[in-house]
Amino acid sequence: MKTNKFPLLKSSRLILRKTTAIDIDQTYFLRSDAGVNKFIERSEESKTKSLADAASFIQKITQEYDQNKSISWSICMSESSEMIGSICLWNYSDDMKKAELGYSLHPSFQGKGIMSEALQMVVNCGFEYLNFKLIEAYTHCENINSKGLLLKNGFVLNVDKKDAEDPNNEVFDLVKQLR
Ligand SMILES: CC(C)(COP(=O)(O)OP(=O)(O)OC[C@H]1O[C@@H](n2cnc3c(N)ncnc32)[C@H](O)[C@@H]1OP(=O)(O)O)[C@@H](O)C(=O)NCCC(=O)NCCS
Repeated sequence: MKTNKFPLLKSSRLILRKTTAIDIDQTYFLRSDAGVNKFIERSEESKTKSLADAASFIQKITQEYDQNKSISWSICMSESSEMIGSICLWNYSDDMKKAELGYSLHPSFQGKGIMSEALQMVVNCGFEYLNFKLIEAYTHCENINSKGLLLKNGFVLNVDKKDAEDPNNEVFDLVKQLR
C-alpha cells in the first residue's frame, strides 16, 4: 500500500528518516567502502564509484518511493541528523505481498544492537503500515553478522529457495504473524 506520508520511525536511540540529498557523502561511503560491501554483490552499472553515483542513487530511490517500488530510510542516532546507516524494503512482488529487506551500517556503529533496533521498526512498519505478508532477506552464506541479525530477529532460513543470480546467497523469510 502506498501511503501519503513517509513513515518516520523512532526508538529511544534511533530516528529512521527519508534518505535525501544531504546524505550523499554517507551514501557514497556505505555503498563503496570495501569492508561494508565485502559480502554485497552489485552489477557494474549499480556500483557507487563517485559522489555523483551516490547522488544518482538517492534520486533513484526517491523516485522508486514515489512510484511505490521501494522505501529507504537513513538511520540516525536520535541526537544527530547524520546518517550512520541505511535500511530499505525493495523489490516488491507484483501482488504487493512480499518485500525484500536490505541494510548496512557504518563500522563505528556496528556491534551495538543498532541494526536490530532499526530492523524491528522497519519490519513492524512493513507488516502493519505497508501491509506486506512476507519479508525476505538475501545474504551471503559467510556474512555471519547479517545472518545472526536475521536469525535473532525471527527470520528463518528458506532451504528451498535459491538466489538464481548469486549461488553464495541464502534466503531468509519472516512471515507476518496473524494475531
Ligand atoms: C549486518 C550488520 C548490519 C549488523 O549490524 P549490527 O548493528 O552490528 O547488528 P546488531 O544490531 O545485530 O548488533 C550486533 C551486536 O551488538 C551487540 N550489542 C551491543 N549493545 C547492544 C544493545 N544495546 N542491544 C542489542 N545488542 C547489543 C550484541 O551483542 C550483538 O551481537 P550478538 O548478536 O553476537 O550478541 C553490519 O554488520 C553491517 O552493516 N555489515 C555490512 C553490510 C552488510 O553486510 N549488509 C547485509 C547485506 S545482505
